Amino acid sequence: MSCRICSMDTRVVLDLGSMPPANSLVSSTMQRQNNFPLVLEYCESCGSIQLQDCLDSEDLYRNYLYVTPNSAMLRKHYEYLSAYLVSRGYMSSRSRVFEIGSNAGYFLKHIQANVKSILGVDPAVNICEIARSEAVETICDFFDRPLAMRIKADRGQQDLIVARHCLAHNCDPNVVLDGVQELLSDSGFFVVENAYALNTIENNEFDQIYHEHMFYFTIRSMKALLAKHGLKLVDVLMSLVHGGSIVFVANREMSSPAVCDSVEQYQLREQMFLTEDAFHRFATNTSEIRRALKTLVEDLSHSGKSIYTYGATAKGNTLLNYVGLDRRTIPYCVDSTKIKQGKFLPKSNIEVISEESALGSPPDYFLLTAWNYKDEIITKVRTAGNYHSKFIVPIPFVHVV
Ligand code: TYD
Repeated sequence: MSCRICSMDTRVVLDLGSMPPANSLVSSTMQRQNNFPLVLEYCESCGSIQLQDCLDSEDLYRNYLYVTPNSAMLRKHYEYLSAYLVSRGYMSSRSRVFEIGSNAGYFLKHIQANVKSILGVDPAVNICEIARSEAVETICDFFDRPLAMRIKADRGQQDLIVARHCLAHNCDPNVVLDGVQELLSDSGFFVVENAYALNTIENNEFDQIYHEHMFYFTIRSMKALLAKHGLKLVDVLMSLVHGGSIVFVANREMSSPAVCDSVEQYQLREQMFLTEDAFHRFATNTSEIRRALKTLVEDLSHSGKSIYTYGATAKGNTLLNYVGLDRRTIPYCVDSTKIKQGKFLPKSNIEVISEESALGSPPDYFLLTAWNYKDEIITKVRTAGNYHSKFIVPIPFVHVV
């Protein structure tokens, strides 16, 4: 295939087979569920890692089940990120801030008191309603140049444009970048946060691969993408959320701020570790996780132990469907998101129940499909009085805690 950033040839890194979209939970196990290929490719030329096939955005995002969890770890992250943006002069009390893919609006709400104005955009009708009920002004649409022009006419250019965990969710990120180019003020900053490809590969996070994640950004590929839109990367910051994320800070090419040392330092690390060997290890370890997890769950189930999964996550659906686990060995999945409860995970048909229901009859084991919130979830379960259940952590390798 050819790269959707630089048009050069790509090669296959990992083929996870065919699966339903990860957030397409169903209301009944009788509901028809379509499978689509999940193949990861690498472009040697610009360093981009991307899905071979992209699904339609309207189908994926108009009615969406992912609501940002009300998590202590995320609240700390907002604090860390906003303090960093302020300390480096990327955000101030004079900033008009615009967030793309703002979901329930939690990040905008977090910074609201310290900036001049906030505005979000998100394509999911049901999620926009949640944001509005939290008094976060949100336009319900996909972000592109025509929308950017309308916002510019109504409210002027924006000094900080943020795209957290959503730029990779587009088949063609150039559409979003065209809008950014239009809407960003001359001295403004564009901040992209995403799961970092280096962490995904190094920590065997193959479950980060699902249809919504159409790109797995590296510093090299982000530079190439930004350059096509007159933007330059000036800073990068690492964070622990979502299994290891990267925050890219960019501004207009003609703008003055110097490029921070962090960009070159992290890019050197990327060059050293994102090698042919690393991709090979990733593929081998992915198969080994499948073998080990299937064996463990089947052995436990045969010996009469009960197992639920914890977290109706998108990544959990890749994990369960790739490993081949379903409701026969794992009847329930616990999740705090109200709109997921009572539904069934795609293909595995595991029923989602609330955290409260799981407390009533705790299983012997929880498979942590939300392993990125491991400490927070274990603390929550123990604090609620469940000292019985053990936790199976699948990533970076299968182990029990
Ligand atoms: P997330 O890790 O963002 O997953 P993905 O991007 O793979 O979909 O989602 C975390 C999920 O875990 C979300 O559905 C809410 C759930 N969750 C709980 O049920 N309890 C908790 O304490 C936390 C932190 C999350």
